[in-house]
Amino acid sequence: MDTLKILLVEPNESIGDLITKSLQRAFNAHVVCFRSSLEASNLLKQGEVFNLILARNFSELSESDPIDQIAQNLLNLLYDMSLKTPFIIIGEFEHAYKKYALVSEKLRLEEINRLIIKALNLKKEDFEHLKLPDYVSFSLKHFYLISRPPCDVFIRLAKKTGDEYVRRYNLGESFEREDLKKYEELGVTDFFILKDDYEKFMNALFIQTMDSLKKTKTTEEHIEVAGDSFDISSELMRGLGITPASLAMVDQTINVMKTQLQKADKLSLLVKKLLDNKMSYSYRHSYLICLLASTLLPKMEWGSGEQQAILLEKICMVSYFHDIFLEDEKLLKISSADEMKNAGLTVKEGDILINHAHLSATLVQTYPRLPQGVDMIIKQHHGVSNGIGFPEVLTAGISPMAIFFMVVEEFATNILAFPESPDNLVQSMRDALIPLKQKYQLPSYRKVVTEIEHLVTPKK
Ligand SMILES: [Fe+2]
Ligand SMILES: [Fe+2]
Repeated sequence: MDTLKILLVEPNESIGDLITKSLQRAFNAHVVCFRSSLEASNLLKQGEVFNLILARNFSELSESDPIDQIAQNLLNLLYDMSLKTPFIIIGEFEHAYKKYALVSEKLRLEEINRLIIKALNLKKEDFEHLKLPDYVSFSLKHFYLISRPPCDVFIRLAKKTGDEYVRRYNLGESFEREDLKKYEELGVTDFFILKDDYEKFMNALFIQTMDSLKKTKTTEEHIEVAGDSFDISSELMRGLGITPASLAMVDQTINVMKTQLQKADKLSLLVKKLLDNKMSYSYRHSYLICLLASTLLPKMEWGSGEQQAILLEKICMVSYFHDIFLEDEKLLKISSADEMKNAGLTVKEGDILINHAHLSATLVQTYPRLPQGVDMIIKQHHGVSNGIGFPEVLTAGISPMAIFFMVVEEFATNILAFPESPDNLVQSMRDALIPLKQKYQLPSYRKVVTEIEHLVTPKK
C-alpha cells in the first residue's frame, strides 16, 4: 500500500500538531495541515489528490473573526467537484450532506484512527509494514532510569540524504552513567528505539520507576522519586497520547502523590521540601496545588469524608493534567491576560498558552474511568468556560471546583517564588496571599481566600 496522504484542517495549531503526530505514528501518513477551509479548498481546486480528508466542524477560536464553517465548506466543495474522497469530521455536525461523512463527536485520537480505518477500509496487513521503519525518540534522561535496555537503542545522525539511525546499544547491554554523560556532553538529547519495541521499553521504564518508588521510605524521598515519574509520564502523555503503558504510569504517579498527601500532616515541612528546586518546576507546582488542596478541601464544606476523598482525587487529576502542554516554566507562571501581554512571548508560545486548558481537557477526555467533571475543571482553570485564553473580568459562572483550583493554584505559584529557605515560612505564606485578596473579590472566590487566610494565620 502506498503512503496515505491526508488533508487535515484544524483551526488550532497545537491540536493540529497533535493530530498530525498521531496520524504519522499510527499510519505513517503524509499529512498536509491547514488552519482554514479557504486554504484547504484552494489546494483541492488545484487538483491535489488525497486519500482522506479530516476536518474540524467549524472554528470557534476567535471571538472577533467570523466563524469558519470548515466541514460545511469542504463538503460543498467536494460535492461541486464530484470528489468521492472519504471525509471525517471532528465535532458535532448537522448538514444535508452529513451522510457523506463520518463524524467523531469528540476529539479523541483513538476514535479518529478507528474512523480512518473504517473509511479507508484498511486491513490489518496494511499496517504491518507501517510499523517497522519508525523510530521513537526518548529523552536521554529516561535512560538513566533503565540500567539494561529491553531492546536495541539507536542514535540519529543527520545526513544530507536524510536521517540515519545507528544502533548504539544491543538488547540487554547495560548502560553506564558515564557513557550517558558523554553523549549529553556531545549534545545528544535523545535516543531512539524501534516503534515495535515501544511497549516493551515503556514497560521496562515503568517497572524500573515502580521499583524505585517501592524502595524509598520517607515522605520526602517519595516526593523526589515521584518527581521523576511525574516528568517522564507527562512527557509520554504529551508526546504519545494515551496508551496502556503511559496510562499505567500516570495512574501510579497520581496514586503515589495522593497516598503521600493523605499520610502527611506537616504542611510546612512539605512546602519546604517543594521549595527545593532540584525537582522540576512543573512537578513542584502541581504537587503543591494538591498539597494545599488536600488541606483546604475539608474547610470548604463540600460533603462527607468520603466525598472529600473523591474531590481530592479529582484535584490531583486536574493538577497533574491542567498544564501538561506547558513545558516552559515561564508559561506555567502566567495566569492573566496582562501577565501574558507583558511576558513578550513568541507567536507559538502565545498560541500554546492560550489553548493549553482546552487542549488538556480534550486530552483527558480520552482517559478511561475519568472522574466526573475533571475535564470541565481543567477547561475552566483560568476562569474561562471554553478553556481559551484568560478572562477579561472574573466570573462566578464557572464550576465551584474550578474557582477553588484557580485560587489555590495562584497561591501555589506565589509560594514557589520564595527563596529556597525563607526566613519565616508562615510570614512568607501570608505575604503570598496579599495579591490574592485584592484580585479575588467575588464571594465565591473570596471564600477560598478566606480559608487560605485561616490556614496561614498562626493560632493563638
Ligand atoms: Fe497551572
Ligand atoms: Fe494553566
